Amino acid sequence: MTRLVRVGIVGGGKGGSSIYKTLKSIDHVEIAMLCDRSLSAPGMFLAKRDAVPVCSEVEELCALPNLDLIIEATGDADVQRRIAQGKARQTSVMEAEGANLMMHVIEEKEQLSEMKRLKGEMDAILNSVQEAIEFATGDGTIRYVNPSFCRVTGLSAKDRIGQNIFEASPSGALARAMRTHEPIFAHRSRVGGTEVEVVSNASPIVVDGKMEGGVVVFQPLTDIYKLMEQLQASNQVIDDLKTRINQITTSTYSFDDILGSHPEFEKALDLAAKAAKSNSTVLISGESGTGKELFAHAIHGASLRWDKPFVKVNCAAIPETLLESEFFGYEKGAFTGALKTKLGKMELAHSGTIFLDEIGDMNLHLQAKILRVLQDMEFERVGGTQTIRVDVRVVAATNRNLREMVKQGTFREDLFYRLNVVELKLPSLRQHKEDIPAYVHSLIIKFNRKFGKRVNGLTTPAEELLLNYDWPGNVRELQNVIERAMVTVEEDIITHKHLLNFVEAPMHAEGRELPELVSLEEMEKRMIRLALQRFGDSVEGKKKAAQVLNISLATLYNKLKVFS
Ligand SMILES: Nc1ncnc2c1ncn2[C@@H]1O[C@H](COP(=O)(O)OP(=O)(O)OP(=O)(O)O)[C@@H](O)[C@H]1O
Ligand SMILES: [Mg+2]
Repeated sequence: MTRLVRVGIVGGGKGGSSIYKTLKSIDHVEIAMLCDRSLSAPGMFLAKRDAVPVCSEVEELCALPNLDLIIEATGDADVQRRIAQGKARQTSVMEAEGANLMMHVIEEKEQLSEMKRLKGEMDAILNSVQEAIEFATGDGTIRYVNPSFCRVTGLSAKDRIGQNIFEASPSGALARAMRTHEPIFAHRSRVGGTEVEVVSNASPIVVDGKMEGGVVVFQPLTDIYKLMEQLQASNQVIDDLKTRINQITTSTYSFDDILGSHPEFEKALDLAAKAAKSNSTVLISGESGTGKELFAHAIHGASLRWDKPFVKVNCAAIPETLLESEFFGYEKGAFTGALKTKLGKMELAHSGTIFLDEIGDMNLHLQAKILRVLQDMEFERVGGTQTIRVDVRVVAATNRNLREMVKQGTFREDLFYRLNVVELKLPSLRQHKEDIPAYVHSLIIKFNRKFGKRVNGLTTPAEELLLNYDWPGNVRELQNVIERAMVTVEEDIITHKHLLNFVEAPMHAEGRELPELVSLEEMEKRMIRLALQRFGDSVEGKKKAAQVLNISLATLYNKLKVFS
């Protein structure tokens, strides 16, 4: 440790005070005492504040032990004489003029070291930031690049510094900011003379309205931005998958779920099982509730495409204006409201099966459009130019007589033949009534589980009632009748009483008692109940019920509300 230099100052006026202040800021100087004739001289206040001893007689100061230097700041000859007499031999004396000169040198030195310290700190900061930094002066001369700049761009500081930014990277953010005098954010460009893509923020440095230079900070695109782009791409994929999942139902039923062993029914099962293995188009026809949809699922499930999508389209439910976009999808921006690209049913069904339900309810115009896709298996999305090829197996179903419709000119003949490669006719339940007991048995098991009951069968009269009934709603109606009976049954056996409300003896049965007379209102209720029982409670079932009752769907809903 260097020894402290002990200094005494004589004179607390302007000159003395400024010397005092400079010396005070130097670490290895100890101000031993300040002396002034007047205790109210400015320097005296400073000394008192700093707890530096003060005195009014020069002799007192001179008598201090181990004093190295006395600075004389009064310029008074008498004072100078008294110092010369009073001071110890080894104590030097310096007059104000010399002291001021020295103070000046010291101050400059201090400032210099302060600047050195600041520069050291700045260097440490600029060297440690991960972002690349480049600075150019007002005329574009590159004056500084930090180490990250060299790391990111692969350029050396030696080569870069001294070049002109307007030549080296004319389209970069720094050149732009300096040309336009405006800051630039998130600018994507390539660093001049390299293949490195970067994202930059640049600012001009304007002092008093004059362009003094500019600074740019950038990051290579590789890191965070590439990740962001990947993230965006992944989000797009997730969105697409979500839409697909929402629109695809994988087939949920297999041939094992289809009951029935009557020869008439087995014929249909055999043909369906054979057709499943091929890629042929299958047209399933049959009355409502005969299991057309069930067969369509089973065919897909037993085909080689079983693990691929099964996409159902209810042709009767698609308004004409939406048909194209439903089937072929649309490109983002194809029309107002097309905010993102949407895949059509055909594309969703790619490599799997498309199930065209209620194909007989499609108008001729739509039939023509569908025919074209089925023939070519290629199409463009609405608003798109790219041709999309798909590989889709077609299964269609209808409860209408398409042959008859072709004759009448309401169904296109060419479309009929296109669909009718394998013709699967499902028998109505009245054609295989022998299967009813087996159906009822499996339904009782199912509803016992659902309602927590322990029903174990039917009485013989109940079974006879079921066997004598006409079943216009086929298996679906049978399901509904058993379900309702199971709701009301309290014993462990279903009797004909539980069924009577639902199953009317067939109209054409001979020897049938005349029905009791009821009010028209009651009749209406019964008919509506009957129709729902036949077609089911689902929206589709209600639509069919309304159709048969010849009322609108809205009217049906209104009446149901009044009944309940
Ligand atoms: N052979 C069968 N074995 C078991 N359940 C059957 C059978 N046939 C039909 N079902 C059942 O009956 C109900 C109606 O079947 P599905 O929906 O397949 O009929 P659909 O022919 O498509 O009728 P619609 O023409 O009214 O649409 C379903 O719940 C189905 O599971
Ligand atoms: Mg159906």
